[in-house]
Amino acid sequence: MPESREPGRPTLADATRGRILFGGDYNPEQWPEETWHEDVRLMREAGVNSVTLGVFSWAKLEPRPGAREFGWLDRLMDLMHTNGIGVVLATPTSSPPPCMGRLHPETLPRDEDGRTEWWGGRQHFSHSSDTYRRYAAAITEDLAARYGSHPALTMWHINNEYCTYDWGDEAAATFRRWLRQKYGTIDALNEAWGTAFWSQGYDGWHEVLPPRHAHYMKNPTQVLDFKRYTSDMLLECYLAERDIVARHTPHIPVTTNFMPLWVGQDAWRWVEREDVVSVDLYPDPRDPFGAQGGALVQDLTRSQARGPWMLMEQAAGPVNWRGVNHPKARGLNRLWSLQAVARGADAVCYFQWRQSRQGAEKFHSGMVSHAGEHGRTFQEVKQLGAELARIGEEVTGTHSGAGIAILHEWNSWWAGAQDGRLSCEADYPDVLRAWHRALWEAHLTTDFAHPEHDLSAYRLVVVPQLYLLTDAAIDNLVAYVQGGGTLVCGFLTGIADEDDRVREGGIDPRLRKLFGIRTLHEWWPLDAGETAECDGFRGTLWSEEIEADADAVTESVYKGGELDGLPAVLRKGRARYVSTLPEPGALTDLLATVAAEAGVRPVLDGLPARVEAVRRGDLLFLLNHGREPVTVEVPGTHHDLLTGATVTGEVALDRYGVAVLRP
Ligand code: GAL
Repeated sequence: MPESREPGRPTLADATRGRILFGGDYNPEQWPEETWHEDVRLMREAGVNSVTLGVFSWAKLEPRPGAREFGWLDRLMDLMHTNGIGVVLATPTSSPPPCMGRLHPETLPRDEDGRTEWWGGRQHFSHSSDTYRRYAAAITEDLAARYGSHPALTMWHINNEYCTYDWGDEAAATFRRWLRQKYGTIDALNEAWGTAFWSQGYDGWHEVLPPRHAHYMKNPTQVLDFKRYTSDMLLECYLAERDIVARHTPHIPVTTNFMPLWVGQDAWRWVEREDVVSVDLYPDPRDPFGAQGGALVQDLTRSQARGPWMLMEQAAGPVNWRGVNHPKARGLNRLWSLQAVARGADAVCYFQWRQSRQGAEKFHSGMVSHAGEHGRTFQEVKQLGAELARIGEEVTGTHSGAGIAILHEWNSWWAGAQDGRLSCEADYPDVLRAWHRALWEAHLTTDFAHPEHDLSAYRLVVVPQLYLLTDAAIDNLVAYVQGGGTLVCGFLTGIADEDDRVREGGIDPRLRKLFGIRTLHEWWPLDAGETAECDGFRGTLWSEEIEADADAVTESVYKGGELDGLPAVLRKGRARYVSTLPEPGALTDLLATVAAEAGVRPVLDGLPARVEAVRRGDLLFLLNHGREPVTVEVPGTHHDLLTGATVTGEVALDRYGVAVLRP
């Protein structure tokens, strides 16, 4: 697993130049040109210094095959430059113009039932289509040639939220190509996929298909490989465009925006090929754990970037794709934006600048809402812009590190989420969130890492659930503990190898030895809402019938029921195994205890429950996620960068209040 990005490439710092980028997706093609001038006036008023242009402009740029309409974009690039606003220029390749689908139906993806995804929505492109790729390369080439030396250009934004699948015929051909490269022979594929089961043996490559609609459960390794392949195909598309813009402008950083904790991309592989790691983040304003969900994505993105990252999209108010879409209460947009900065963002951007009046997203908020410049949304955006400008110089480029790493990996997620498992209640992202939440509530900042990464810098490593682990990952975990590291590991970890073949004894023998598990007899999954009484806490989701080795210490046992007296939490040296998901408070207590043993302290002691404290460089961010004002004890004297005040001993935070303290 490589751990370094391509050397010599530009970085986010080349675009920020000491300022926090502030702005968002700008879709001026939806508006008459008079509005553009009004937009620029308001952007300047709000301190906007960055807009992303062109994300959905393909039909405007290429209304007929091969035609180019650049005049409007020329005027916009100039307008932005004249007004001191940088442009993150997008390749428009996530939504092809209708003419492409009409003339080349093979560019349209098929779902697993064989249905075509037609134009009329968005993202109707087949990643495997040669024709799509040819058109995408051509428009990218022309954009790069035309705007590569434009002074407004600060960054390239390739495509948008790569997230498509394709089960069609061209995809079937590229799937076979990918599989041939991986396995070499059809016998090797048969072996890896376990096709002896249910008469699935393949006689030749021509018989192999993407996992299309089937009568009953599909071959899990075929499905797993299809997910790996899809991520790789999308990465190929990204790299093809990335290489074009990089050839024209080697000094301009390139990004593509992830969706938060999106299942479809093996993001650890992607981030090695990005100059700037960027993410879109839309916590539900009504979710009591929205702030923690946001923190999780921010921690993950910072870890992927190994430094400052870009919040590419968020909403200034409501989104319009949930069942019920709530606005952000006064102050919440500011709070969550500064939370991202605290956790390493050097760019705070939105979808989108001006709320649309037409189209599917007309009820999705913008920085300028339908209420216009006098509306609360824009007024709050303006205040935030001024504050970000105030703190930008001291914040940008600094790093917020952590002594703890949570291990997260996409292959494991994919393999563990298949049909045919014992419980659909043990949902991977939910389990991941639960463990992150426990650390968040203990005021312990955490990074994320890949299980094959060098973990030696961390005092504590937490594995919520990694169903599939490679041999290299298992050896890495064992070496980490042998090297003095502290490990806490949740259930359903180390069950399968890379081909989703169950390991000997149900859990890999190296891990059983590490945790002191002599035998795993049976898994006893719990129903939704059911709990398992344990010594000191209640477990949820899962329980296990395990037998401990003589040299292991049982820290908690199941009480009552079939598992009475059997270990719920097992420790051997610095390695702990937790065979259930303790209820939230109990998991927080467990992790706080283990972290203290490992020498990791909370950011501040005695913090009120809804107050988050994060260190970034020398700065201490305090964020009140509660609706009541609080006072926080902070030893020493500090300067609050937001208010300019000097504070000694304690800091008062309003509802949703924030302080950014320099010692
Ligand atoms: C993102 C997308 C934007 C916009 C936004 C709405 O997924 O990149 O174009 O659709 O969601 O929340």
